[in-house]
Amino acid sequence: MNILVTGGAGYIGSHTCVALLEAGHTVVVADNLGNSKAETIDKIKQITNKEITFYQIDVTDEPAVERVFFSHDVDGVIHFAGFKAVGESVEKPLAYYYNNIVGTMILAKACQKYGVHRFVFSSSATVYGENEVPFVETMQLLPTTNPYGETKSMSERILTDAARANPAFSVALLRYFNPVGAHESGLIGEAPSGIPNNLMPYVTQVAKGKLEQLRVFGNDYPTVDGTGVRDYIHVMDLAEGHVVALNNLTEGVHIYNLGTGQGTSVLQLVKAFEEANGVKVPYEIVGRRPGDIAECYADASKAKRELGWTAKRDVIAMCRDAWRFEKGYK
Ligand SMILES: NC(=O)c1ccc[n+]([C@@H]2O[C@H](COP(=O)([O-])OP(=O)(O)OC[C@H]3O[C@@H](n4cnc5c(N)ncnc54)[C@H](O)[C@@H]3O)[C@@H](O)[C@H]2O)c1
Repeated sequence: MNILVTGGAGYIGSHTCVALLEAGHTVVVADNLGNSKAETIDKIKQITNKEITFYQIDVTDEPAVERVFFSHDVDGVIHFAGFKAVGESVEKPLAYYYNNIVGTMILAKACQKYGVHRFVFSSSATVYGENEVPFVETMQLLPTTNPYGETKSMSERILTDAARANPAFSVALLRYFNPVGAHESGLIGEAPSGIPNNLMPYVTQVAKGKLEQLRVFGNDYPTVDGTGVRDYIHVMDLAEGHVVALNNLTEGVHIYNLGTGQGTSVLQLVKAFEEANGVKVPYEIVGRRPGDIAECYADASKAKRELGWTAKRDVIAMCRDAWRFEKGYK
């Protein structure tokens, strides 16, 4: 298939481009490079030895999006392009609602206009809010505490309604847990600008000496060691999950958790990182961060049952690959 990947120069998008190309699909990337670099496109070509068509466009620019659909026989869209920082979404709600919702709507509209029936959307475990773990796809979604999470719930709803009105439109809503790690080549990975919001890039930057020490937000949660528990998933497992979801997409709306089903605490992750890489990660315990929940992990059984997909790479592989990328990153 010929797949339009929005946000394909970004962290998860770039790894998914690799997985798509390796599975024999062709890829057209649309990305405004607001949070990524053009050289990532060259790295994807280098890893796969395949060509990619790249458009530096904004997905909220409707005429520009239409030109891409007009110029290519698109068989499906994987929509990653969006803002993703929870804290920033509280500061800039309008920018988040605009970018994430309008982008989704323009792409869905273009799909209708150009007869594109496959749509895979990047959603997030955030939509479960404070439900009980493990999170199951059938749960009633609870309001999230931030605009970012709301943009994901709303986009899910918009795509679901669009599919109801047009039964040929097949939608996969993929709810990611905590993607970490990097392609094993070390050529692409997660490179946040500024101080990282997420644990693993923070850990790699402390290990490298770019940041002095890790701040662990709270050690009084009701968890195995008091620190927050998350379901870390290797970004290549996540990328492969997209390919499987796309290849198996049938009419209607299909929701899948993409996680491992295993929770890992902050301190367990730090220990695994030190063991995997033989480096020290100094840390200090500080107070809880507002908006954080104690535990978040998936019931990952639906994707296994229906798609035959499970995450294969363990926490050690995640730590090793994240570190390999960081060491080579300037
Ligand atoms: N990384 C995570 O922990 C996580 C978890 C759950 C869901 N998600 C979702 O997955 C998607 C990808 O996340 P990521 O971690 O790869 O982020 P990322 O910032 O690395 O990638 C997003 C890409 O989209 C581009 N982009 C943003 N707005 C755009 C616009 N209007 N037009 C064109 N390009 C635009 C950015 O330049 C970037 O390259 C996002 O939608 C995010 O909300 C991420």
